[in-house]
Amino acid sequence: MKYDASVEIDIVKATSSKIDSVDFENLKFGHIFTDHMMSCDYEDGEWKTPSIKPYGPISLEPSAKVFHYGQAVFEGMKAYKDEEDKIWLFRPDENLKRINRSSERMAIPAFPAEYFYPALEELLKLEKNWIKKGFGNSLYIRPFVIATEAGVLASPGSRYKFMIICSPAKSYYTGKVRVKFSEKYSRAADGGVGFAKAAGNYGAQFFPTNLAKEEGFQQIIWTDANSHEFLEEAGTMNIFFRINDTLVTAPISDRILDGVTRKSILSLAEENNVSAEVRRVPVKEIIAAAKDGSLKEIFGTGTAAVINPIQGFGHQGETFELPNIEDSYAKLFKDKLMKIQYNLEEDPFGWRYLVKE
Ligand SMILES: Cc1ncc(COP(=O)(O)O)c(C=O)c1O
Repeated sequence: MKYDASVEIDIVKATSSKIDSVDFENLKFGHIFTDHMMSCDYEDGEWKTPSIKPYGPISLEPSAKVFHYGQAVFEGMKAYKDEEDKIWLFRPDENLKRINRSSERMAIPAFPAEYFYPALEELLKLEKNWIKKGFGNSLYIRPFVIATEAGVLASPGSRYKFMIICSPAKSYYTGKVRVKFSEKYSRAADGGVGFAKAAGNYGAQFFPTNLAKEEGFQQIIWTDANSHEFLEEAGTMNIFFRINDTLVTAPISDRILDGVTRKSILSLAEENNVSAEVRRVPVKEIIAAAKDGSLKEIFGTGTAAVINPIQGFGHQGETFELPNIEDSYAKLFKDKLMKIQYNLEEDPFGWRYLVKE
């Protein structure tokens, strides 16, 4: 996380701010963007000077490779403000490492840490009024990279754009989520790109998710592509099952995204003496546990909602409801994680990253 603070960044400030027109009490996730964006071009084999400028449309040729071959990767992270107006990031090194792993898989050049941290911090300082104090308020940060080179030859581009845009967010309660265990469609396969935050992984989920919605489910829990017998992850969340008092989650593989929230929950479980098993999760085991009452909770973990409790699930025409329990692990770990993120509790893991003024 060390970088050369002298890195040059071109900054053009917006002449006016949209902030007064925003209803921060009623934010819909990911709909409103702040006044500025960061942009950095890759040309002639190197990343050029990063710039921060007013948020707005960008111009690309219709033949830009991103439109034809889907060379696009992204990240999702958040900034938080504490009671003393200090701005914090949560494990940003994990997001940088992950976007560069995603990029490598999509034949996109890596983005250097020496540019990432100063550019992100300058952007956040400009947008500090958009980060509201209060438990649950945050600024969602979306870094992404696209291939901008013009030309429809199916080969990797030699020009790319790395950008960061930001959207104010409130802690949101997604309501009672019911999920369908996938029986036919797959999100990822061995040797594929499931571990990468490649744009196409998400677009490919929309159609099967729409079908699941028609059946009354909000999301799909993806199973392994070969047998559909093992539960892997949800569309934008890793997934945990609580059987009696043990948490179980699938191991990271080239089909599953290495979620920052997932690995943080595993560390918190260890710290709090909650037993956690990282192993394959057979559909049959979860159905048997739902039937005999030992399945206490299912929850998804991800940056956007932190922890999303799941109320019920469906599989092969059968539906199962989960009990409402008092001492829920979802609630316990969400609270513990958020208190670290908002600088309300000690951070024994060194996860918080202060954005210096
Ligand atoms: C497919 C997928 N799984 C899991 C996650 C959760 O990852 P994280 O906790 O890093 O947000 C995400 C979101 O980034 C995702 O897109």
